[in-house]
Amino acid sequence: AKILLIHGPNLNLLGQRETDIYGDLSLEAINMAAKKQVEAADIELQTFQSNSESAIVDCVQQAKAAKVSLIVINPAAYTHTSVAIRDALLAVEIPFIEVHLSNPHRREPFRHHSYFSDIAEAVVAGFGADSYRYALDAAINTITNKES
Ligand code: DQA
Repeated sequence: AKILLIHGPNLNLLGQRETDIYGDLSLEAINMAAKKQVEAADIELQTFQSNSESAIVDCVQQAKAAKVSLIVINPAAYTHTSVAIRDALLAVEIPFIEVHLSNPHRREPFRHHSYFSDIAEAVVAGFGADSYRYALDAAINTITNKES
């Protein structure tokens, strides 16, 4: 089985960017911890980050051929704007979990709407880097329960 972890725009700056909101960990550290966590369950992890909406759409599209069973995605600012990434996720019909480091609902009103939450299996938000850990834990459980 394979999980695809997608990070949207500006998340390449994690650890340097608004650290009071997003924390001190770099994206590389988050990806390394994620790999360890997922591979310990005998599941493959593919990670991807892009600042470009089209590259994220392409990444979601290739997931079908790559036989990805579950996507964990932090669409970052595209959460609030991207019909294109939403449509790509609907097109490939791969279940996904939406993740946020912060809790967008306690922030500016424009962050309260997500183009993803109503079609996501689940949403994990507000736990900092641990949001990824909890989401991946749920993803692993879903896959493991399906296979057994
Ligand atoms: C974010 C929340 C978004 O509103 C914001 O644009 C981000 C990060 C989060 O992980 O908390 O870039 O997705």
